[in-house]
Amino acid sequence: MLSIVTLISGRGSNFEAIVKIAQKERWPVKFTGVIANHSAAQGLDFARSQGIPTFVIEHRDHVTRESFDAALIAQIDKLGADLVVLAGFMRILTPHFIRHFEGRLMNIHPALLPAFPGLHTHERALEAGIKEHGATVHFVTEGVDEGPIICQASVPVLEGDDAGSLAARVLAAEHQIYPRAVKWFLDGRLRIEGNQVKLQPPESQLFKL
Ligand code: GAR
Repeated sequence: MLSIVTLISGRGSNFEAIVKIAQKERWPVKFTGVIANHSAAQGLDFARSQGIPTFVIEHRDHVTRESFDAALIAQIDKLGADLVVLAGFMRILTPHFIRHFEGRLMNIHPALLPAFPGLHTHERALEAGIKEHGATVHFVTEGVDEGPIICQASVPVLEGDDAGSLAARVLAAEHQIYPRAVKWFLDGRLRIEGNQVKLQPPESQLFKL
């Protein structure tokens, strides 16, 4: 049985969506741990309610990013992760960490990458006046919010949207595509070719929601 370790910083609703679908569809997977970078991360409560082991590695206890990441790597390796899922994990990871988990490290970003990497994506999308926004699941490489795209979901930007209403629409889309991307990985359907992810057998990797 494959094992997933999830890293969160906050609410953890993407993590929750993945666990709930895995339970409903009886995926042959074990959620071996959830790690948060601070103890107030709300998602820890859901993990505990499901009997999933939780760990807190306070980034503030580490003077350098390297030492924080080394602690993360040690914990994740101890748990034996086949896949590491970043679900709203708001720390920049070191190249060493990223190389260590290369090809088995996934992230979700609340924008249609390569548009709007970084923070405040919904505010920036509204400011830019774009008519379509969305979310991207990708393998993590060394650039921030870069890396081979596994799938994307697009949602319309509606008249009268503010950052809150747009964020809610995007989040609902995230909850649909992240579990799907994880399942594709678990089923061995993803091949990384250069900066592209090929899904085998092929199926659309873009969801218009
Ligand atoms: C999600 O919108 C996710 O895309 C975003 O943080 C939120 C976490 O929500 N991630 C990033 O911005 C990473 N760069 P959640 O904790 O409820 O899953």
